[in-house]
Amino acid sequence: MRIAVIVGTRPEGIKLAPIIHRMNQEPLFKPVVINTGQHLEMLDQVLTTFFIKADYQLKLMRNTQTLEQLTADILTTLTPILKTEAPDLLIVQGDTTTAFAGAYAAFLLKIPVAHIEAGLRTYNCNSPFPEEMNRQLITRLASYHFTATDANKKNLIEERVPSERVWTVGNTVIDALLQVSSTSYEFPQELHKIIESDEQLLLVTTHRRESFEQMWKVYRAISRLVEENKQLRVLLPIHKNPLLRKQASIHLIQHDRIHVVEPLDYECFVHVMKRAYVILTDSGGIQEEAPALNIPVLVIREQTERQEGITAGTLRLVGLNVEDIIEETTKLLYDRREYEIMAQALNPYGDGNASERIINVLKGLNLKQNF
Ligand code: UD1
Ligand code: UDP
Repeated sequence: MRIAVIVGTRPEGIKLAPIIHRMNQEPLFKPVVINTGQHLEMLDQVLTTFFIKADYQLKLMRNTQTLEQLTADILTTLTPILKTEAPDLLIVQGDTTTAFAGAYAAFLLKIPVAHIEAGLRTYNCNSPFPEEMNRQLITRLASYHFTATDANKKNLIEERVPSERVWTVGNTVIDALLQVSSTSYEFPQELHKIIESDEQLLLVTTHRRESFEQMWKVYRAISRLVEENKQLRVLLPIHKNPLLRKQASIHLIQHDRIHVVEPLDYECFVHVMKRAYVILTDSGGIQEEAPALNIPVLVIREQTERQEGITAGTLRLVGLNVEDIIEETTKLLYDRREYEIMAQALNPYGDGNASERIINVLKGLNLKQNF
């Protein structure tokens, strides 16, 4: 079975690595990995961590790229490769431009598409933007749908996706996380001061496009939190997007307990998460991973498609208001009971066997017949 796998960004690399590894162990599968290069350094870090070498590297990233240019570039460069490779199936992951354009290119060539992490929904096409639209479009383009939870599956069934084409398998990010977090790890020298300090560590990541104009509020809130709490240290591994970096440089104060560093490689980041006291983030993947490590997550977004985490109590939606971010973070810093309730809540996103389940389903598919 010739299976093309398309990756473009950091989270796709992390979440597809366990599947690529499993396919490499099975003689039945001949995986062809196509890297669009939507992300450059941030994806290369992941592929290095997981020892994955792409068969094709399209190198499409441009500085402050536009979505229309990126979409056009992916369609025009990917199509001839798919024609040459003629895979039996294309695997896409998530809701990025790479995943959407990849699925569309395959659809036009009548190559069946399997969608990993299907069924996430906010039903608000502006939040997250453009991901909510991407994931809905991928659902229409794909033939096979692998969801992380039963609630995600229910969304698809309600949208009239045939139930026999949907499998709830858990999220492959937990497979990746468990693999990486179980190893012993030596932090790089430059992080020693942060990791070894006995202060409470607030780990922060920010990157969502729809929040750009309001991101200053997050940086302002962090600045005040550090000024008001002598026992608080902040680590912000900052996304490579120059527009975001500019905002952070304007609105974050210079402080010896605020550390803005380059994106950390996945292994390092996972071990930093284990050391964090609270995580403040707008990331999708971190909402799934941190609870598996018993770290409370405050979600700096107006809406989340990870409702199961909110219901389970592992996540709390704090929005993008300065006072709300400060209040909710402070609560967790000082109220041990509140903290423990969140930290001990059960993570609904999987048990580390999602890729195994996906491989077992793929083995049983009659691809030609089912498109
Ligand atoms: C993309 C995805 C988003 C995902 C996120 C993961 C879309 C529309 N968005 O958003 O769903 O959550 O990746 O991080 O697909 N850059 C670099 N080096 C890198 C990566 C990015 O310099 O390794 C800079 C470039 O200037 C690039 C910009 O960041 O133009 C934005 O990258 P892009 O992939 O367009 O958007 P993200 O916000 O990363
Ligand atoms: N991550 C990482 N290094 C960092 C920050 C995050 O490896 O410095 C990992 C994180 O563990 C998670 C993934 O990147 O698995 C999330 O990526 P991102 O937040 O960029 O995208 P999203 O999940 O929101 O699509």
